[in-house]
Amino acid sequence: MARFRLFLLLLLALPPQPSSLPWPDTKQGTMASLILTALEKATLFLEDRLPTINLDGAVGFQVLEVQLRGVQEKWASDPLLQPLRLRAGRLASTLSALLQKSIFYLKQSDPTYLREFQPSIQPGFWKLPHVWTRTNASLVYPWLDPLDSFSEESSDMCLVQLLGTGTDGSQPCRLSNFCRILMTKTGCSSYSLSHQLLFFLWARMQGCTEGLFLQSQHYMNVFCANMMELNQRVEAIGYSYPTQDLFMENIMFCGLAGFSDFYKLHWLEAILSWQKPQSGCFGKPDAKGKLLEDAPQRQGLLRRVRRREKLFTDGCSCHNTATAVAALGGFLYILADYHSDNGEPHPPTQSPESDYQDNSPMPEVQRTGRPFSLSS
Ligand SMILES: *[C@@H]1O[C@H](CO)[C@@H](O)[C@H](O)[C@H]1NC(C)=O
Repeated sequence: MARFRLFLLLLLALPPQPSSLPWPDTKQGTMASLILTALEKATLFLEDRLPTINLDGAVGFQVLEVQLRGVQEKWASDPLLQPLRLRAGRLASTLSALLQKSIFYLKQSDPTYLREFQPSIQPGFWKLPHVWTRTNASLVYPWLDPLDSFSEESSDMCLVQLLGTGTDGSQPCRLSNFCRILMTKTGCSSYSLSHQLLFFLWARMQGCTEGLFLQSQHYMNVFCANMMELNQRVEAIGYSYPTQDLFMENIMFCGLAGFSDFYKLHWLEAILSWQKPQSGCFGKPDAKGKLLEDAPQRQGLLRRVRRREKLFTDGCSCHNTATAVAALGGFLYILADYHSDNGEPHPPTQSPESDYQDNSPMPEVQRTGRPFSLSS
């Protein structure tokens, strides 16, 4: 049976409701309101734990602030959207104040990391996509490099070169050969893959356009095609706990890179369902989903634990919460973006039918016997 995937876009493309409700009262309005509620709750978590939030956590909320400003702007022209717009604006202002304060704490807890990555928590750094594209399944790697994974230290070092925030006084956008090779290596998976994409995403934010960066879009196409494939496999194994983090990171990064097919309605529903109702955070599920997470992690997706992950005793994770809010902010932004021209969704780059259905063959079927498997 052909598996058609419903996108958020499908919902947006539905014919107008017979009653012709103004859109805050329609399904889209309800959805925007649901997402905002989740984000407001997550922001209370940020406020509550502010002195202990690490930089990766702050980055997610910084992205969210930018997304909320973007949404605010898209909703500005429609008087019916004023209540939602006010909510988004209030939340963005709250975040802005909290993030200012968090810099004070980060300076004390990890001054070096802060110096190196401070651009990523500055409001002007992140830019939202204005043109949307989609992943191309034919770019998925036919094999994976069994030695794919590179260390977070290497990845950090290359990002610091890109930002020009090292102590050697070198300019942004300048790269060593080591980083050029590392960041363009084929066959990577998991966090190595998402960090390769992050590298080119930051190059775009930083305004790097020369040399290697002439091919930025090409590399982003390749990496996000593979990140899409990973996310589909995470979904296929039921989003078991430790994979949720990478899954949301992939949506956050590729969504910011302009790949609209990461914004699937059922992925939105899944993410919303993971929020902890008490604290508003995202993290380790409560007892019942316990089986997989204690199993020894052999290879593949689950192999690596993030060095800077911070897990609170109540199961709240800084990194999970950060990727969740930026993924959710992306859903809100695309919802607003597709509605900002008189509710007329403007189709992304490809043929209209491919915007509403994902009828690409299931990659799992095509490529069995890959060097790693998720279900071990
Ligand atoms: C997808 O990528 C393949 C290989 O690069 C290319 O031939 C094809 O035209 C692409 N498809 C779309 C829809 O862009």
